[in-house]
Amino acid sequence: MNSIPENPSNPGSQPSDVATHVEVDGVRLKLAQPYESPGRWIGQGEILQQLLACWISVDPADLPLTPRLVGAPGVGKTQLAIAAAKAQGRPLFIYQCTADTRPEDLLVTPVLSQNGEIAYHASPLVTAMLRGGVCVLDEGNRMNEKSWASLAPLFDNRRYVESIVAGIVIDAHPEFRAAVTMNQDESTFEIPDYIMSRLQPTLPVGFPNKQDEMAILQYHLPFAEPEMLAMTVEFLQRSHQLKLEFSPRDGINLLRYALKRIAQDPSHPVGRDQAWQEALKSCLGEEAFDLEQLSQRKSRTLGGDAVPLGLADLFFDPDDPMHPDRDDDEDDEEFNV
Ligand SMILES: Nc1ncnc2c1ncn2[C@@H]1O[C@H](COP(=O)(O)OP(=O)(O)O)[C@@H](O)[C@H]1O
Ligand SMILES: [Mg+2]
Repeated sequence: MNSIPENPSNPGSQPSDVATHVEVDGVRLKLAQPYESPGRWIGQGEILQQLLACWISVDPADLPLTPRLVGAPGVGKTQLAIAAAKAQGRPLFIYQCTADTRPEDLLVTPVLSQNGEIAYHASPLVTAMLRGGVCVLDEGNRMNEKSWASLAPLFDNRRYVESIVAGIVIDAHPEFRAAVTMNQDESTFEIPDYIMSRLQPTLPVGFPNKQDEMAILQYHLPFAEPEMLAMTVEFLQRSHQLKLEFSPRDGINLLRYALKRIAQDPSHPVGRDQAWQEALKSCLGEEAFDLEQLSQRKSRTLGGDAVPLGLADLFFDPDDPMHPDRDDDEDDEEFNV
């Protein structure tokens, strides 16, 4: 199956940092550019260690794991993966998954070049596989099953992909590592179990504590005044306590907007409080002013799911007259009044 190792330009040959093309089985592939960023991860050291552990090889025969980073939008999943790649000094490639990502987008895309010939462009994922880098499949649960299916052999012990378009099999470099981020929201596909079982373990990224959240905001907005930072951290921490999903990203955006409004007209500066309130409303909506009410509304909507199940609930419908825990008629009447 793997006819590639003999090929001098495939994984074993370790293309240098400046390589822009690699040849695989006679097909010349143009490589993608790595993503460069400072990629600092603040606080929550344990989850960074857990991610890094997935990528260790404890023995020459051992294989790395490809974990799933899950959590609310804006909590820091992508940042965590970037930081982990940086910590290892491996080149980083990020692939943004979408609902219309096709297998060839993920692998190799044919492009018509200037002289009318077909040029083959390696995706960020294939580039990471060839260069021995890290690929972050960002927001992986937006991608459909067909695209995931093309990655099934990559994320088990076979570690290859097959590009139908280029007619080649591409082996992953031994140093290749990957992680998949997934948002817990509704606008996503159900990923089939045979894929999920290859994306292990699940690493849940949670909201930062007060001190870390302050450090995150300070890091991204070092020019913000302490008073404005404190207001934002207070707001975010309260929303975390109430299990609402306002995130560090929301905090960064709202604070950034408030600072811009204040700086806009130095002769008539908008008051800090006023600018912050306006930014809250513009970025997060009117409902963000009353977190308690928002939280109550949210728990009412989720109400049905929150009721703990008893053993009998597994066997009887809640309305089944045979249900042992069913309220009697009197209670029903009271309830209906
Ligand atoms: N622990 C952290 N350290 C540094 N920056 C963070 C941290 N957590 C969140 N951020 C910042 O918050 C924003 C949202 O993070 P991101 O990784 O894009 O979230 P997600 O991928 O979960 O939607 C980014 O600007 C990111 O840099
Ligand atoms: Mg992300």
